[in-house]
Amino acid sequence: MPVNHMPNGSLSHWPSNVGILAVDIYFPNMFVDQTDLEKFNGVSDGKYTIGLGQNQMAFCTDREDINSICLTVTKSLLDKYSISPKDIGFLMIGTETIIDKSKSVKTVLMDLFAESGNQDIEGIHATNACYGGTDALFRAWDWIESSSWDGRYAIVVAADIAVYASGPARPTGGCGAIAMLIGPDAAVVFDRKVRSTYMAHVYDFYKPDLSSEYPTVDGPLSNMCYLQALDKCFQLYFEKANKYLQGTTLDSFDAIIFHAPYCKLVQKSIARLVLLNYLQSSENQCNDTYNQLERYKNIKLEDTYSDRELEKLLLTLSKPTFQKKTDPSLMLPRTIGNMYTASLYACLTSFLLSESLDSLKNKKLLLFSYGSGLAASMFSARISSDTSPNSALAKMLKVVSDIPDRLKSRHRVSAKVFEEALNLREKTHNSAPYQPIGQTDNLSTGTFFLTSVSDKYHRTYKRISSEEK
Ligand SMILES: CC(C)(COP(=O)(O)OP(=O)(O)OC[C@H]1O[C@@H](n2cnc3c(N)ncnc32)[C@H](O)[C@@H]1OP(=O)(O)O)[C@@H](O)C(=O)NCCC(=O)NCCS
Repeated sequence: MPVNHMPNGSLSHWPSNVGILAVDIYFPNMFVDQTDLEKFNGVSDGKYTIGLGQNQMAFCTDREDINSICLTVTKSLLDKYSISPKDIGFLMIGTETIIDKSKSVKTVLMDLFAESGNQDIEGIHATNACYGGTDALFRAWDWIESSSWDGRYAIVVAADIAVYASGPARPTGGCGAIAMLIGPDAAVVFDRKVRSTYMAHVYDFYKPDLSSEYPTVDGPLSNMCYLQALDKCFQLYFEKANKYLQGTTLDSFDAIIFHAPYCKLVQKSIARLVLLNYLQSSENQCNDTYNQLERYKNIKLEDTYSDRELEKLLLTLSKPTFQKKTDPSLMLPRTIGNMYTASLYACLTSFLLSESLDSLKNKKLLLFSYGSGLAASMFSARISSDTSPNSALAKMLKVVSDIPDRLKSRHRVSAKVFEEALNLREKTHNSAPYQPIGQTDNLSTGTFFLTSVSDKYHRTYKRISSEEK
C-alpha cells in the first residue's frame, strides 16, 4: 500500500476522510466453551451463555504474552496489506496487560521496523483499562490531522489478555489483538468535532497488585459505571452532533457498536439508549415506544440503574433495534470473550463481516468505548462510498473474510485444560529466569511465541513458520 499523500514531497492540503484503511485481528487458536465452563464451575445451565450472553472464550498459555500477541497482529497487518514499514510514521498501542512498568510494548514492536531502517516512528502506549485502544486511536487520528503529519500512515494496536481470578468474573475473560492502519481517504471515516468524553475517578475495576495479572473488580459497580458513562457520552455526543452534524438522530445510525465486556451488558446498553433517546426527544413523538415510556418522562437517570421493571421494558422495546443495529457486531465478542482494549474494534470488525461490500456503502456507525476507572467516549464514523475492487474497503473485507474459518479451526479444550493454563500463568507471571512450558503445536502459522525469559527479564520470541506446521 504506497503512501500517496506527499505530492513533490510536500503536503498541500488538510488531510480529508481520515479513518481506518486496514484492519486485522489475532485471537488464540484455543477456546473453552462456556457450557463446559458452566458444568465445571457448578453453576446453573445458561448462566454464562444466556445470563452473560457468552458462547466461547479464547485464552492462551504461558507461550503468549502482550508483546507476542502485538507482534503477531502487527506483522500480519503489514504482510496482508503489503504495507511497507517505511510508510509508518506513528505507532501506538492501547493495552492494560502490563509486563513492564517502564518499557512500552511499542518499543518491542520496533523490531518489525528495524530491517527497513525506519526508526522515526512516534507513539508509545496508553493504559486505562479497556479504553487504551480508543485513546491510541484518537492520538493517531489527531497526529494525521496535526501540523506534525508528514504524509505517512499511523498504526494503532489494541490488545489484551483478559484473565480473572476464579469466581463470577472469570467467564468474562478472553484474549485478542487488533491492528488498524489509520490515514486519509479511509474505508471507515471518522466524523470530526463530535467526539464526546466522560471521565471520573472510580474504583470499579483496577490492577493495584503488580505481581498479579488479575484485576480487583467490583462487577455490579462496573456495570453501573458503564451505563452512567453511556448516559453522559450520549447526551454530550448529541449536543455536539446538533451543532456540527445537523439532522443527526439515533435513527440516523445503521449500526450502534459498543465495547463488549460481555454481550448481555451490550444488550442492556442499547435498551438504555431507547430511554435516553425518549428523554431527549419526547415532545415531538407519538408512537407505541413513546407511549409506553410516558410514565418515565420526569424520571432522573440516577434513579434508574437498579430499576428492574424499567430495564425489562426497555429490553423489550429495544429488541428490534438490538437485532438490526447491534447484534451483528457481537459475533467476535461472543466467540472470543472480552478483549479489553480490542473489544470495541473487534465489534466493528464483526459488523463489517456481517454485510456485503455494496451494502456497507455510506453506512453510519455510532461507537461507544468504556474503560473502568473510568474513561469513556462516544464517536461516530461513516463507511466510504468507494466500493470499487481496489478500494480500501474492498481490500479490508477480503482480508477479514477468513475470520469465520479461523474461528472454526480453533481447538476446543476442556474447562480443566483451560483452568490449568490459567493456573500456570498465575504461578509463573513475571518469573525470571523462566522457560515457558506450554505446547506450541496449537499455535497457528505466523504466531509469535515466547521462548524464554532471562535472569535479566529479557524476553525472546520466535514465530511459527509454515514449515513447522
Ligand atoms: C458481570 C458480572 C458482574 C456477573 O457476575 P454474576 O455474579 O455472575 O452476576 P449474576 O448472578 O447477577 O448473573 C448475571 C446474569 O445472569 C443471569 N443468570 C444467572 N443464572 C442464569 C441461568 N441459569 N440462566 C439464565 N440467566 C442466568 C442473572 O439473572 C443475571 O442477569 P441480569 O444481569 O439480567 O441480572 C461478573 O461476571 C463480573 O464481575 N465481570 C467482570 C466485570 C465486567 O465485565 N464489568 C462490565 C463493565 S466494564
